[in-house]
Parts: sequence; structure tokens; C-alpha cells
Amino acid sequence: MAERKRLVAGNWKMNGLRADALALARNVVARARQPHRCELLVCPPATLLAVVGEALAGSDVALGGQDCHAEPKGAFTGCISAEMLKDAGCSHAIVGHSERRHTCGETDADVRAKTLAGWRAGLIAIVCVGEIRAEREGGRAMSVVEAQIAGSLPDGATSQNLIVAYEPVWAIGTGLTPTMADIAEMHAAIRARVPLDARILYGGSVNPKNAGEILALEDVDGALVGGASLKADDFWAIAQACE
Ligand code: 13P
Repeated sequence: MAERKRLVAGNWKMNGLRADALALARNVVARARQPHRCELLVCPPATLLAVVGEALAGSDVALGGQDCHAEPKGAFTGCISAEMLKDAGCSHAIVGHSERRHTCGETDADVRAKTLAGWRAGLIAIVCVGEIRAEREGGRAMSVVEAQIAGSLPDGATSQNLIVAYEPVWAIGTGLTPTMADIAEMHAAIRARVPLDARILYGGSVNPKNAGEILALEDVDGALVGGASLKADDFWAIAQACE
């Protein structure tokens, strides 16, 4: 089996103004000049793609968008197409993040359409899935995630165009994480449903303290990091946990 190169991705969410984003991006780039074995990706808000993209130029830190619209262009006020992300220098787009599924009401069908849009534009789609707390406590986490995978992934997924991120909703921004056994079980179940060698990231309260243990799990191919990606030290420490 080909080696799956690990990916540590920072989802900056709705954080950052030009000055602090530039400083953060430059900081990440400076650290990334040191040898590292994982791929690095930062996903700033759309307003910062240009300034962060310039800071990343010449480095091996990739740029990604946090969401895209399914259509390439048109009368969709406030939305951004996958083609626009590509044009802004992105190589990846996060789609189906729980904050969009749950606060914007996005369905699996929406996520599927956005994944196809990302591919149409030549982007790698990072498709997020994950259960809410009641589903975990009710023993339904696995069936929920399996249904999200079935509904959100279009035909044509390959290890080159798709990355899946398992992000239990109750673990996002809470400091809580599933047990290592639960993460391992979920990633193995996802592995059975995605193309061979597609990478599966874990996301939800990843920090420099827990990253080593999480990233050591067999089917965890990297991390999608929220809060800790806003500090270059922490983001880099998580990247180093891939070593
Ligand atoms: P936190 O790392 O802040 O829990 O966020 C995870 C996340 O939602 C990444 O997409």
C-alpha cells in the first residue's frame, strides 16, 4: 500500500484581520522551513486568501478555502465558488463542516454538490463528517457517520481528490475528545467506505498535548485543527507530532 502522507490542516474559521493573519502565516512559513514529514495547509477566511496566499508563496504550505458554492458563478450574494478559490491560489476546499451543516442547514446533498464543484475547479475536497453528542450517547455515531459518507461523497472519489475529516461535533472547540478506541473504530469504518489510500483526518480539540496520541493511530492520516491553528507554535507542535 502506498504511504499516506500525513496532512495537518488549520481551519482558521471566522478569525483574523490582515495584520494578524499575515503575522500568523509568516510564522507558519518560517517554521515550515525546518524539515517536516507532513503536508501543511491553512484555510483562512475568504477575505484573507490573497494576503495569506502571498505570505505562503514559495513555501510548501498550501492554501485552502473553508467552503464553496456548488455553482461556478451567478446571482448568489455572499457566496464564493470553487473556481474563485482556485483562482485565489487554493488547492483544497473544506466542505460539509459541521458549522455549516448545523448553522447553515447544509444537507448531505449540498455537501455532495460542493464536493463535485471543488473537483470541477481542480480542488481537493476535504469532506467533513461527524456525529452530535446525542447521537454518540445514543450509540448512533457510527450509523450517522456512515450515512453522511454515503450521502456526501459523489462517485469519482479518489485518493487524489478526496480527504475525509472525521470531526465529532461535540468535540469541536470544547476541549473534549473521543477515546482513542472510538477514534480508531470510526476511522476504520470510514476507511472501509472511501477509496483506498484516501486520507482521513481527525478534527475536534486537537492540541499539542493530545496530537501525538491521536496521530499515532493507524487510520488517522492527519488533523484538521481549529483553535490551535491560530497560534503558530501550537500548529507547528501538532505538525511535529507527525514525526
Ligand atoms: P477545534 O480544533 O477548535 O476544536 O476545531 C476543530 C474544527 O472544527 C476544525 O475544522
